[in-house]
Amino acid sequence: MAQQVKGVIAPGKNEPVRVETILVPDPGPGEAVVAIQACGVCHTDLHYKQGGINDDFPFLLGHEAAGVVEAVGEGVTDVTPGDFVILNWRAVCGKCRACRRGRPWYCFDTHNARQRMTLEDGTELSPALGIGAFAEKTLVAAGQCTKVDPAVAPEIAGLLGCGVMAGIGAAINTGQVGRGDSVAVIGCGGVGDAAIVGSRLAGAARIIAVDIDDRKLETARSMGATHTVDSRTADPVEAIRELTDGFGADVVIEAVGRPETYQQAFYARDLAGTVVLVGVPTPGMKLELPLLDVFGRGGALKSSWYGDCLPSRDFPMLIDLHQQGRIDLGAFVTETIGLGDVEKAFARMHEGDVLRSVVVFG
Ligand SMILES: NC(=O)c1ccc[n+]([C@@H]2O[C@H](COP(=O)([O-])OP(=O)(O)OC[C@H]3O[C@@H](n4cnc5c(N)ncnc54)[C@H](O)[C@@H]3O)[C@@H](O)[C@H]2O)c1
Ligand SMILES: [Zn+2]
Ligand SMILES: [Zn+2]
Repeated sequence: MAQQVKGVIAPGKNEPVRVETILVPDPGPGEAVVAIQACGVCHTDLHYKQGGINDDFPFLLGHEAAGVVEAVGEGVTDVTPGDFVILNWRAVCGKCRACRRGRPWYCFDTHNARQRMTLEDGTELSPALGIGAFAEKTLVAAGQCTKVDPAVAPEIAGLLGCGVMAGIGAAINTGQVGRGDSVAVIGCGGVGDAAIVGSRLAGAARIIAVDIDDRKLETARSMGATHTVDSRTADPVEAIRELTDGFGADVVIEAVGRPETYQQAFYARDLAGTVVLVGVPTPGMKLELPLLDVFGRGGALKSSWYGDCLPSRDFPMLIDLHQQGRIDLGAFVTETIGLGDVEKAFARMHEGDVLRSVVVFG
């Protein structure tokens, strides 16, 4: 029988979010119901509310979450009730061409839960990124659950479900940052800072943080940046070249999602260097670059979705490194808040006051 729980709904474009009673069905075949313990407030939740992702209102927001599996449906063997799990956007199929070639992060046929959660009147909800975790309980595909060590606080573990994984993965998986490399990160919010943490973990010798906000540059330094550039007052391309003996950085990670910052990234890398686009552009944005420069400068222009991560490989590994003190995932949690505070958290995010506000339950 469906359970009634509280969840945060975005009812319509730019309307304030509100806490509503939602109905969570029992898990069907291949599904799991997870009791959420913590869920971070991500920029993408705000994009959903603003209608920037699609128009499938009402949304059940929240997707950066950890919790405990409460019940599983028929055929689920990878997780069992009581497991502490981090949720990921999409379960991979294991059968498509990408999966069979051993590249499941490019799976063509990912899926979420088949059944829908609803409002009390039966209105179907669209869960953000197929999760919907600003809710006491949510229904997902069991393959969206990755079991990790329950010794880590849920407000910390859950962040691996989106922004922190996207940033760390952009550096270590997509950018393939190596020992001794120079790295520049343009845009030092939660995602850019995570790229800094990933670059440091990978052994980068020089990590240059670029932003237009002093507070962000200060935090970037505490996360491992060796140099900072305020691009309001300095040309970031020139500054990055100067800081890399005139060459440019081996890897430049763009974590803003704008044509002008992408262009900076393109020219701030060394010849044959790598640009990683992790910032998400909006549909109208266009990029204009001389094709001869694209050809002549060589190297790799890559984009990074979800840090090219494989949750089953990367979540437990990063939790281990956190427990060993080799990365500090706790540094991303600015504040913990209640379910009714999501709208306020959006305002603080907009002001640039926080890396992450995290809703905690119970
Ligand atoms: N690729 C993925 O899988 C993935 C996953 C999560 C988020 N994202 C995207 O990553 C981007 C960053 O997310 P976030 O949560 O860190 O956002 P955020 O708003 O916290 O951070 C953005 C940062 O960029 C800085 N900035 C803005 N304009 C700038 C400019 N012209 N030059 C330099 N810095 C500038 C801001 O001051 C801020 O510090 C967003 O576009 C988000 O949608 C991508
Ligand atoms: Zn697949
Ligand atoms: Zn997110």
